[in-house]
Amino acid sequence: MANYHVPNLRMANGVEIPQVGFGVFQINNPKQAVQSVSDALEIGYRHIDTASFYNNEKEVGQAIQASDLDRSDIFVTSKLWNNVRGYDNVKRQFETTLNNLGFDYLDLYLIHWPAAGYIEAWKALEDLYEQKLIRAIGVSNFTIDQLKDLANNANILPMVDQVETHPYFQQDQLHDFLEDHNIIHESWSPLGGGKNNVLKDPVIAKIAQNHQKSPAQIVLRWHTQRGEVVIPKSVHPDRMKQNIDLFDFTLSDAEMKQIAALDRNQRVGADPTDQVFLEQSTKYGTQVQRIKLEQEGKL
Ligand code: A2P
Repeated sequence: MANYHVPNLRMANGVEIPQVGFGVFQINNPKQAVQSVSDALEIGYRHIDTASFYNNEKEVGQAIQASDLDRSDIFVTSKLWNNVRGYDNVKRQFETTLNNLGFDYLDLYLIHWPAAGYIEAWKALEDLYEQKLIRAIGVSNFTIDQLKDLANNANILPMVDQVETHPYFQQDQLHDFLEDHNIIHESWSPLGGGKNNVLKDPVIAKIAQNHQKSPAQIVLRWHTQRGEVVIPKSVHPDRMKQNIDLFDFTLSDAEMKQIAALDRNQRVGADPTDQVFLEQSTKYGTQVQRIKLEQEGKL
């Protein structure tokens, strides 16, 4: 079994999270989901990031059970989708997630988007955390204002905010806010999600050449040097290997600045202040359902 060194970051409550995880968004085919997670575990990933929206929690659980790793060796995140709100519903949905995974606890549970009702949902997460069914709780796609609103109504602050971040969308202000409040900045679509050309950017290409690394490794190394957790997705074992092999080189201050200068404030995903998106997202529970509604012209 290959073994790459991956540092842990310490969350506000002392629980450690591996700085590189394997993201499984858009791995929709069940066989491919099991295969990809099995490959990732074999390569050395010990952190898997799923969500009920991805419709592959069962496959993630199957791959983990089929491995010879102990449950405690693996850090698993899942997320609560926007169609589930209300204290009791959230608790029931969490049970479903645990059953899908075949676990008796989860490492990290996130509110997937700041859709209406997130404060009541957070109360349920706080109680599940107090009951030790979740080792850490957090949010995803929350802006500074949404985090402040949550904090004003919470007993426990989120330990993580997982947000879109890549060199063309760097989120500097949010990044500093998270750092100041001891909230881990986790990055989704750290490579631009295959939806922009960041991996072909000439500045990244030049730095990659200097270090004899791939553009993806340069981008992921930039994230980790900024102190972020990254969850790159790939269905290809050779890329999975690249994406976790980041800790035997260092970008210089000048290289970090060159990448910082690439920011275009250009998202590849949804905007968490887009009320139409947030409202519509409560009408479906998985990506497959979303695509179907879109095809039927119902969104
Ligand atoms: P694939 O799954 O075919 O490898 P992100 O993690 O930002 O969401 O990006 C995922 C996208 O980037 C996917 O399209 C994935 O394609 C591709 N990708 C993942 N790792 C690499 C890599 N090391 N080099 C090039 N493309 C990659």
